[in-house]
Amino acid sequence: MIQDELLKALANVKTLNEIEQIRIQYLGRKGIITNLAKETDFSKLSPEEKKNFGQKLNQLKNFATDQIQETLNRLTAQNTATPQVHRLIDLTVSGSACSLGALHPISMVQMELEEIFEGMGFTVLDSPEAETEFNNFESINIPSDHPARDMQDTFWLKNDMVLRTHTSSNQVRALKRFGAPFRGIFPGRCFRYESIDPSHENTFYQCEGLMVDRDISVANLIGVMKTLLSEVFKRDVKVRLRPGFFPFVEPGFELDLNCLFCGGSGCPTCGDGWIELIPCGLTHPKVLEFGGINPNEFSGFAFGLGLTRLAMMKYGIRDIRYFNSGDVRFYEQFAPII
Ligand code: DAH
Repeated sequence: MIQDELLKALANVKTLNEIEQIRIQYLGRKGIITNLAKETDFSKLSPEEKKNFGQKLNQLKNFATDQIQETLNRLTAQNTATPQVHRLIDLTVSGSACSLGALHPISMVQMELEEIFEGMGFTVLDSPEAETEFNNFESINIPSDHPARDMQDTFWLKNDMVLRTHTSSNQVRALKRFGAPFRGIFPGRCFRYESIDPSHENTFYQCEGLMVDRDISVANLIGVMKTLLSEVFKRDVKVRLRPGFFPFVEPGFELDLNCLFCGGSGCPTCGDGWIELIPCGLTHPKVLEFGGINPNEFSGFAFGLGLTRLAMMKYGIRDIRYFNSGDVRFYEQFAPII
């Protein structure tokens, strides 16, 4: 009997390979059971006999398949349970270290800023890197013949588009879309046609901020900036404003931070005790008008934080070129320690 022979053969197997050999011997293309059908001359059988034969053959096939599968299961279970037969997992092999990914320092600073500003009720907006000339210049009071355009060496694209030279390019878009009152920040990548050295990059990150409401004054600007810097540097900070010129703010300021290294007495990092950190000012009435906001009813302030610069200060990074270097040794230093 084929069944008995099969059971006998299966009872003695010790390896998975032996089971496979038996499977081929019985159920393979030229196997014993497969051949039964091939060797039978069906023309000599009555319809009743054909039907009978087919049923028997199927039963036999199913029997063989089940027995083989059962033996397979039994052997696999034994192999995992009894180490002498065959160990599938060797728990004694020593592990190999896997390197953890790290967030880019700019991402970390950006995420921290977003959290701080969200806490003050600001919305975080994404904005395009390829901008219209209008949004990047005209709409924030920098007309084509304005000398301020020289301050920004621009990568020009086709059809009056530019790679944005600053995140101020999103001010009027945001105002048009959300109206007043408005509080938002726009972090993102900016581009300028500059030669690269330890403190200059052609690709860098800024975070623009804009707040428009009734009766906004310099006091609001200073309040928000101080809160921001105290949270970033985890201590109380002193700031001062100096006059600065930017066409989209009036008055415009440079906000300086009292040096955190020397406490204001003067050191190699700051020179005279102050570090120039955030250009800012009260939003120019023309910008509000371009945004569809009545400057007699609303006023605002804006600031342009250099994210790259902030990251350099926060982490003591002395060369700006590391940021875009793609050098894993640099990024790895920011991996979490576990
Ligand atoms: N957009 C300016 C730049 O890239 C920075 C700036 C200055 C932004 C003053 C402001 C501002 O919002 O009020 O140089």
